[in-house]
Amino acid sequence: MENYKADNTRYETMAYRRCGQSGLKLPAISLGLWHNFGSVDVYDNFSRIAFRAFDRGITHFDLANNYGPVPGSAEENFGRILRQGLGAYRDELIISTKAGYDMWPGPYGDWGSRKYLMASLDQSLRRMGLEYVDIFYSHRPDPETPIEETMGALADIVRQGKALYVGISNYNPEQTERAVEVLRQTNTPCLIHQTKYSMFERQMAESLLPILDREGIGMIAFSPLAQGMLTNKYLNGIPENSRAAKASGHLQRNQVTPEKVAAARALNEIAGRRGQTLAEMALAWLLKDRRVTSVIIGASSVAQLDDNLNALANLSFSAEELAEIDRILATAETK
Ligand SMILES: NC(=O)c1ccc[n+]([C@@H]2O[C@H](COP(=O)([O-])OP(=O)(O)OC[C@H]3O[C@@H](n4cnc5c(N)ncnc54)[C@H](OP(=O)(O)O)[C@@H]3O)[C@@H](O)[C@H]2O)c1
Repeated sequence: MENYKADNTRYETMAYRRCGQSGLKLPAISLGLWHNFGSVDVYDNFSRIAFRAFDRGITHFDLANNYGPVPGSAEENFGRILRQGLGAYRDELIISTKAGYDMWPGPYGDWGSRKYLMASLDQSLRRMGLEYVDIFYSHRPDPETPIEETMGALADIVRQGKALYVGISNYNPEQTERAVEVLRQTNTPCLIHQTKYSMFERQMAESLLPILDREGIGMIAFSPLAQGMLTNKYLNGIPENSRAAKASGHLQRNQVTPEKVAAARALNEIAGRRGQTLAEMALAWLLKDRRVTSVIIGASSVAQLDDNLNALANLSFSAEELAEIDRILATAETK
């Protein structure tokens, strides 16, 4: 297999946004490896997606210990992509991983203990063939482990040089305020909060944004296309090659409700008037808010990636467009 060489024009069009009040900038669009990069997927296809992403200025790749399937295989595959040439650009890359969900049997393979977080990151580094990650996350809050233990482990991981920055994901506003305070006491600031945020799922992110803004923490939105429902994919049924149809996909068929499809069709019309695809408009709608540092998209093809990147060409909305979008989203939410 030929070694990858990056495109020299890669920094010409991407926008980079400062992550909270830190020194780190992230691309407005990042690539996530939750789906499409596992052992059930095709190396040739997903490695092309990763290389194309970097060629278009996506410097940030988001992973977690359990991404696959099988769990761990997305990190192994990303390690292979790095060895095939992307790793030559290590100092131009922001690689994140996480621990928090079920990873190995027994009481130490899950949640937020120091034991689990430390062991999991060591495993992630081995799978990817890395000496350090740029961002390490607590993937979800643990109701049973003291927050001091989970945050203390994150801070020590930074001191050990195994991660440069730390973040939290899926913490609600109260849990976020507490985690941020405990991290601050360790002199390891919380860099970033990774939150589910899309036109179809707004509440949690909208209650977190003022807190993160006040605390100088970046927000990175995950599943910004509602796993594909905010694209043209499901406008006319559930195609065979879609996440909702695949056994390994986390989008269930019954989540693609008639209300969501009707809203997507109505949104698609507005997107058309703006000269955008629905996917482009859905991403632009999130990025219009400067408090959103980046959106982490998933993609099962290079064509999807390219479509999504075109969102950056128009991030502004008229007041009328915003009001019309809100009305459509309200109908999808109440049904
Ligand atoms: N912290 C957490 O707890 C957490 C949870 C979930 C995700 N994440 C992160 O967020 C990342 C993104 O999540 P996600 O994959 O759910 O994001 P998403 O961008 O909402 O959905 C991606 C999926 O939508 C479809 N798609 C994307 N672009 C398209 C386009 N232009 N036209 C038509 N279809 C398109 C593809 O599905 P098809 O396969 O059907 O083509 C693609 O796999 C993950 O990889 C992960 O890094 C984090």
